[in-house]
Amino acid sequence: MQFKGLTFGIPKEIMHGEGRVAAIPETVKQFVAGGARVLLEKGAGAKAYFADEEYASAGAQIVGDVEELFAQADVVLKVKEPLFNSAKGKHEVDMLHEGQVLVTFLHPAAPVNHEMIKNLAAKGVTALTLDGIPRISRAQAMDALTSMSTVAGYKSVLMAANRLPKFVPMIGSAVGMIPPANVTVLGTGVAGLQAVATAKRLGAVVHAVDIRPDAAEHAKSLGSKVVDTGVPAQVATGEGGYARHLPQEWLLKEREAIKEAIVNSDIVIATALVPGRLAPVLVTEEMVKAMKPGSAIVDVAIDQGGNCELTAGGELTQKYGISIDGTKNIPGMMPSSSTMMFAKNIFHYTSTFTRDGKIFIDLGDEITASSLVCKDGKLVHAGAREAMGLN
Ligand code: NAI
Repeated sequence: MQFKGLTFGIPKEIMHGEGRVAAIPETVKQFVAGGARVLLEKGAGAKAYFADEEYASAGAQIVGDVEELFAQADVVLKVKEPLFNSAKGKHEVDMLHEGQVLVTFLHPAAPVNHEMIKNLAAKGVTALTLDGIPRISRAQAMDALTSMSTVAGYKSVLMAANRLPKFVPMIGSAVGMIPPANVTVLGTGVAGLQAVATAKRLGAVVHAVDIRPDAAEHAKSLGSKVVDTGVPAQVATGEGGYARHLPQEWLLKEREAIKEAIVNSDIVIATALVPGRLAPVLVTEEMVKAMKPGSAIVDVAIDQGGNCELTAGGELTQKYGISIDGTKNIPGMMPSSSTMMFAKNIFHYTSTFTRDGKIFIDLGDEITASSLVCKDGKLVHAGAREAMGLN
């Protein structure tokens, strides 16, 4: 049996406002069917509307003391990186022990996480990060980053529409025809395409902006109009087909090319990202000033600095009559769907390194190799090492 003799621990997330959890009753059942013992912290799924009783009927043991859960688990499954648990007066890293496996989003290259990552490595924990999963077909069912982008793209449009002082669809009424709202989506990767689809479903006229021709083509196939950025494909696209960080000269040209679409938008959903770099600033203060008062921007790219130069991280602000939403952790605002997707992703991922009740960290496997952060006291994650100046 795949998980025979292994104990999986699922603690309650302690980040402020985090409603997700790393397992749902369905995945608990799958772990248990594979021979695992599953320990779940009491109330861990409550904010995502999964009750302790449902987990217990699926075979989980509900544990009151999270330290006991950390002490007993062979593999700890989490959503967010380890943080200080103020109720316990202890950092989650200090609850982990040598040889134990931790699977979560660690974002190990981000400077804010460096100390925590070094501590994890020093403890001898085997840490695997979900943001390291490669974007290959075999890994699609494990790709939590893609799942969370799907949620963020959908929810961001609803957040903006909800703040808009007007209708999104065209409305035929007794007092005449009310025109539909204009929505511009910046960046049409996973989150942006979901935003395009959601805005179309709401009846908006949608414009899409992406420097990668493939991404723009996908947006077009969903019914949006494509705004030509003027950036040549060879400048826009780098290794593996991903977007490149644009030289200043091209960024300025792109801003000029998209300005009209932004200024005429009732809603701007900003999702443009370049892997491993700060997000490009595509919406300037001057553009915001020129937008119609009452319009709404949601800066989904805020974790990497944002696409609008006026966005305040984690805050909803008003500038020149425009609402600018810099909410971080948008997936956490839809905890049931995001938990359902996340839990299934982490189950599939965990299945890649467990066999016959044993843990196999096989660096010959592309998925494990690119998601392993540290093992046996060594920090191995290339991006984190580079960011820490260790190479
Ligand atoms: P992302 O979140 O890194 O970036 C979002 C979008 O921003 C990208 O489409 C990018 O081209 C665009 N962008 C970057 N700089 C820009 C600029 N200056 N102006 C306008 N747009 C800009 O991208 P995400 O969502 O990670 O997806 C990228 C691609 O990866 C997808 O289109 C897809 O082809 C591929 N992918 C493959 C998967 C798999 O096979 N497992 C899973 C997910 C994505």
